[in-house]
Amino acid sequence: MSILLRARGLTKTFGDFTAVDGIDVEVRQGESFGFLGPNGAGKSSTMKMVAATSPPSGGELSIFGLDPVTDGAAVRARLGNCPQQDNLDEEITVEENLHVYGRYFGLPRSVIRERTDELLDFAQLSERRKDKVEPLSGGMKRRLTIARSLINNPEILLLDEPTTGLDPQARHVLWDRLFRLKRQGVTLIITTHYMDEAEQLCDRLVVMDHGRIVAEGSPRSLIETHSSREVLELRLEVDDHLAAGDLVAGIGERVEALPDRLLLYTDHGDGALEAVHARGLRPISAIVRRSTLEDVFLHLTGRTLVD
Ligand SMILES: Nc1ncnc2c1ncn2[C@@H]1O[C@H](COP(=O)(O)OP(=O)(O)OP(=O)(O)O)[C@@H](O)[C@H]1O
Ligand SMILES: [Mg+2]
Repeated sequence: MSILLRARGLTKTFGDFTAVDGIDVEVRQGESFGFLGPNGAGKSSTMKMVAATSPPSGGELSIFGLDPVTDGAAVRARLGNCPQQDNLDEEITVEENLHVYGRYFGLPRSVIRERTDELLDFAQLSERRKDKVEPLSGGMKRRLTIARSLINNPEILLLDEPTTGLDPQARHVLWDRLFRLKRQGVTLIITTHYMDEAEQLCDRLVVMDHGRIVAEGSPRSLIETHSSREVLELRLEVDDHLAAGDLVAGIGERVEALPDRLLLYTDHGDGALEAVHARGLRPISAIVRRSTLEDVFLHLTGRTLVD
């Protein structure tokens, strides 16, 4: 499979602050690749370099085998870019937003018309095509941004936090659209700080923290490598769970104490709960669940993804 994106020691600095600190990444054609990390991890800074809208401060970066600094226009012509903040023109209509973008890429009018019809159908916005953008819901605007980014039939679609701020139903509609694109062979590069989004959408991902990559793999392999099969979440009758870890020490493989709960990592959650009861503890609540990428992040960094 051909490699569409290759970064080696890629770095972005702002003054003396390093936002992206020497990352190595390869993305193959047809894959859905993710950057998972909390606020400030350096995800958007990375995406802007890949989008050829912000030059790297150091390291190597090639996209389609091209240098995004010297061949920026050629790279951008083959990319779709959905930045973190929708930058639609709110004063013109839905379809005009697509037309403007199509003309920007120099597409013939007949092609723009045809693609606009297809893309509005894809984004479930055909009925709103003559409406101004401003009153659309957040989910509709996000779908329009994605539709607009597809006007040039891109080989790679960059999605920076595609569903932040959307309600659960709007997120699922969007995920469904992204699955369709992937099936059509579009390579997806996604950033998110939602572990469920990363698990749903990404074949492979890197976990980023403070500008560095701390782990890489498929969602499943990351969970298998860095967490246990199950997690027992306990709330006890204590003021601060951070100091309560000792009460359950030795039960399961590992204990993480968060301000509001204890997480016991174990392959057998029910057995761990029995052991908790055997110590005379009577939790206010006890939930056994499967490990997620959130647990992977907590294990690797000692922090949660979403604070
Ligand atoms: N133009 C800039 N000038 C100075 N600092 C910047 C600039 N852009 C980003 N930063 C800093 O770089 C760090 C990484 O920012 P970035 O936007 O890449 O993070 P992110 O992972 O996308 O976070 P979020 O989840 O909040 O979108 C942050 O500390 C941010 O304040
Ligand atoms: Mg960001």
